[in-house]
Amino acid sequence: MRFTVAIDGPAAAGKGTISKGIAERFGFSHLDTGLLYRAVGRRTLDGTPAAEAAKALKAEELEQGDLRTAEIAQAASKVAVIPEVRSALVDFQRAFAFRAGGAVLDGRDIGTVICPKAEVKLFVTASAKVRAERRFLELKAKGADVTRDQVLTDVKERDARDAQRSTAPMKPAKDASMLDTSSLSIEEALAQAVAIVERKLPTDW
Ligand code: DC
Repeated sequence: MRFTVAIDGPAAAGKGTISKGIAERFGFSHLDTGLLYRAVGRRTLDGTPAAEAAKALKAEELEQGDLRTAEIAQAASKVAVIPEVRSALVDFQRAFAFRAGGAVLDGRDIGTVICPKAEVKLFVTASAKVRAERRFLELKAKGADVTRDQVLTDVKERDARDAQRSTAPMKPAKDASMLDTSSLSIEEALAQAVAIVERKLPTDW
């Protein structure tokens, strides 16, 4: 049986934590689709043209090295505006979404473009200030040399680029459930997401 959970929203809203929690709770497979764009972005930093990098992308690249750096995040957001890059990544994401046993995908356009028929669509948000603080603490914990102001500027710049691009912009699907995590703990946010999935899960799952 298949069952798809699409989780979209801006950077550091809590999509990753919620997606992993849902995958664990229901035994679904999880794909962080941002990693696809990050892997392509990383290749462009070495001089590879973005469309070429996207067409040649191998699943193993998602596991190699640290893709979660501030520099790669910006590169990912830049390659993500290119239609050829986005179309090269569609089949991989859809195949993942339709695998047997259930799948959770998180990104920016999962509920709108990749899986418009997903059984559950969630759009997870939080204020830019709260998101920047979370990302700042994450980067600091990894020893990155960043300031709060820099991270806030980066988050806002990325939000604007992701939401304003013409191909597959970040936006909630019309039938998405909205979840604002600004003043929620991880446990509270996850509990709300789990309740939404439970309501949609077939009784014979
Ligand atoms: O979720 P993330 O921060 O790892 O994503 C990095 C960038 O990749 C993000 O700024 C925009 C792009 N992205 C996208 O355009 N569509 C997706 N489904 C996932 C990410």
